[in-house]
Amino acid sequence: MAVIADKCPEIEITLVDLNEERINAWNNNDLSKLPVYEPGLKDLIKKNRNKNLFFTTNIEKSIPDSDIIFISVNTPTKEKGLGAGYASDLKWVESSARTVAKYARGHTIIVEKSTVPVRTAELIKKILNSSHSSDLNKNFKTSFSVLSSPEFLAEGTAIKDLENPDRVLIGGEDNDAIKKLSLIYQRWIPINKIFITNVWSSELSKLTANAFLAQRISSINAISALCEPTGADIREVAKAIGADTRIGKKFLEAGPGFGGSCFQKDILNIIYLSRHYGLEEVANYWEQVILLNQWQKKRISNLIVETFFGTITSKKIAILGFSFKSNTNDIRESPAVYIAKELLENDANLFIHDPKVSERQISALLDESESNLKQNFINHNWNFSRNLEDVFTNADAVIILTEWEEYSNIDWKRFSALMKKPSWLFDTRGLVKDSDLNGTELNFWKIGKGFVFRN
Ligand code: UGA
Repeated sequence: MAVIADKCPEIEITLVDLNEERINAWNNNDLSKLPVYEPGLKDLIKKNRNKNLFFTTNIEKSIPDSDIIFISVNTPTKEKGLGAGYASDLKWVESSARTVAKYARGHTIIVEKSTVPVRTAELIKKILNSSHSSDLNKNFKTSFSVLSSPEFLAEGTAIKDLENPDRVLIGGEDNDAIKKLSLIYQRWIPINKIFITNVWSSELSKLTANAFLAQRISSINAISALCEPTGADIREVAKAIGADTRIGKKFLEAGPGFGGSCFQKDILNIIYLSRHYGLEEVANYWEQVILLNQWQKKRISNLIVETFFGTITSKKIAILGFSFKSNTNDIRESPAVYIAKELLENDANLFIHDPKVSERQISALLDESESNLKQNFINHNWNFSRNLEDVFTNADAVIILTEWEEYSNIDWKRFSALMKKPSWLFDTRGLVKDSDLNGTELNFWKIGKGFVFRN
């Protein structure tokens, strides 16, 4: 919305949320306190906030005033009930549709922006048509058009992706509504990049794009495991296969497994839909992408424990990077969460560093299970610091889990001198060059290459 506001100064955009704390944070004068860290976002907010970009909790007023409403709420995987563990929980989409129905006036275009399972637009339409004309708007004629326009931005490059997208999808049947939305995008996106489809194709394309991207990561991670015992180097293999234009060179970086709020959730959705339609083989095919991802995280935590002959009790282990990728402070489904939990279960003493993630965020996930704590399944033996010196001092091992640029420029000679001997470096992102470690005594393991130096 910040990008639309920037590109279309004559359009007034209001972001509404029930959560007052969040809205206050978006309105905060101190722009370093915005709830989301995203390169370039601060500048856009600074430039457009309170000009044509507003943040408010005043839903009652914002809905009737709007011509177009984007539903952009969370659709996490259901934790209980029918489809638990696979299907998306649509309760926020549903309640948004009910709220829109209650307050809308005149003709309103509803754009489904949240990632949703196929045929959700139908559900939204049903809700809108069955519950409009509440006491509040019964004297006003109301009508709705529902469009699907899924979002393809990636965190960390969101502004760039929105300013120059590979494509924009608009799914729908109402040509007038499609034209209105398309005209907004056309302000900065060439028309040949705006694809018009039917609603279900649009919804399914979103899930499929994420499934294909995730599948690529599981594929390269599977080969990384094969490289390690055989002496191949995954970066050389990725370069060689990526040069084939049919394969392409992007998204071939081996790592500790994919994270983020989308890939796993969207594949689980495809699995659920496939099983629903009796397509067991299709479901099993996609399930393997997730199983491989879980295995990749597990094999990394196992490798660390095994390197210390099966016991890391009271070893100080430094974790560099907690976000699921660089340039974001998002830790949802971050491989770091899983790997840190496994190491804590093995009684390690963790020291975590991340340039943007806060200690509070980490605590919310690592200490989330009070009952686990009480039963001593997980010890609360972790510390956080933004100072690399604290993190390295007396550490037995350092694990790079996120590819933050600053970790590519570490002075290894200086920092490894602070560590205990023998000391270990596990690089799960392939950031460190062998030559960076000249003059150090580090033992070095690198994803997709295995042990490079082992003294
Ligand atoms: C992903 C998609 O890339 C976006 O197109 C989509 O819009 C978004 O999900 C969404 O549905 O909201 P995002 O999760 O923000 O975006 O980040 P990605 O860049 O796709 O990375 C996902 C995970 O894969 C990260 O943990 C990243 O470290 C990992 N990854 C990515 C690799 O391990 N290797 C790679 O080569 C690329």
